[in-house]
Amino acid sequence: MTDQNKILAVDDTPASLKLLTDILKEAGYEVRSAISGELALHAAANSPPDLVLLDIRMPGMDGYEVCRRLKAQPSTRDVPVIFVSAVSETDEKVQGFEIGAVDFVSKPYQRDELLARVRTHLELNHLRNHLEDLVDERTAELRESEKKLRASLLDSITALAAIVEMRDPYTAGHQRRVAQLAVAIANELQLPQEQVEGIHLASVVHDVGKIRIPAEILSKPGRLTGLEFSLIKEHPQNGYEILKSIEFPWPIAQIVLQHHERLDGSGYPQALKSEQILLEAKITAVADVVEAMSSHRPYRPGLGIAVALEEIERGRGVCYDPQVVDICIHLFQDKKFEFSNT
Ligand SMILES: [Fe+2]
Repeated sequence: MTDQNKILAVDDTPASLKLLTDILKEAGYEVRSAISGELALHAAANSPPDLVLLDIRMPGMDGYEVCRRLKAQPSTRDVPVIFVSAVSETDEKVQGFEIGAVDFVSKPYQRDELLARVRTHLELNHLRNHLEDLVDERTAELRESEKKLRASLLDSITALAAIVEMRDPYTAGHQRRVAQLAVAIANELQLPQEQVEGIHLASVVHDVGKIRIPAEILSKPGRLTGLEFSLIKEHPQNGYEILKSIEFPWPIAQIVLQHHERLDGSGYPQALKSEQILLEAKITAVADVVEAMSSHRPYRPGLGIAVALEEIERGRGVCYDPQVVDICIHLFQDKKFEFSNT
């Protein structure tokens, strides 16, 4: 608590300054004294005190000006200033408060009153500083726990994705790789990190609705019948149903619902048109097509990246968002983007 006890006493009258200093020292405070405004500022700048007792009427720089300057410096801005003065006009007192003084003691003063005010303001300032520290501490804690919460959200989502992929070995890793590409596109588009995070989570589970499709259809080699294909086409809606009740800070369920929509309305399940489709879903759609075409499937070997990029180029502006297509091609051709298996 010794830090709380450093007081700077300022008065141009040596006798007044000595009286003030003696009272404070006797009460156990560590006191420095200054005989002018200039010296007071110098002392405060060298080592900010915990409280300043300041005379108003001084030759040269008066107490008001000293107070103003203390309040203008970040290192002394929060130091409480108490005016100790013979000034008795209310106007002048008001002026003192306006420039930031916390209290006013009139000369001649009672020793006990002076000490009581000093004690009160030191205590108040101590509590204020403590509160500030506490707020900083809690803010840091909250940030940390939010980080943990987000990490566990990602873990749960990833676990959900893994369950779907367990039933469908051919698409194992598909969602994760789509997420890699979707995030790379979103970053290249310079979307806010918050939005990129939503795209990440949504694309990691974009096929979660396949959980309701019989496993034998998912891993069937060869062509699907019309009925089988219509079952497959239900997976965005199924995924939406699974996710819609979870309160994410992002439109995850909507992105999943829209990931097979196409700009010209030829997609499913709602045949939405360009302006009705979320940007996040447009990004996931392009990443999905590129990953799916370039990887092996039960009914065909992987076609390779070049063929996948040709497909999105062909569908540019018709099925796929032109800017997203351009960015995706740019990522593979100029930035050497590669899917990683980790
Ligand atoms: Fe899908």
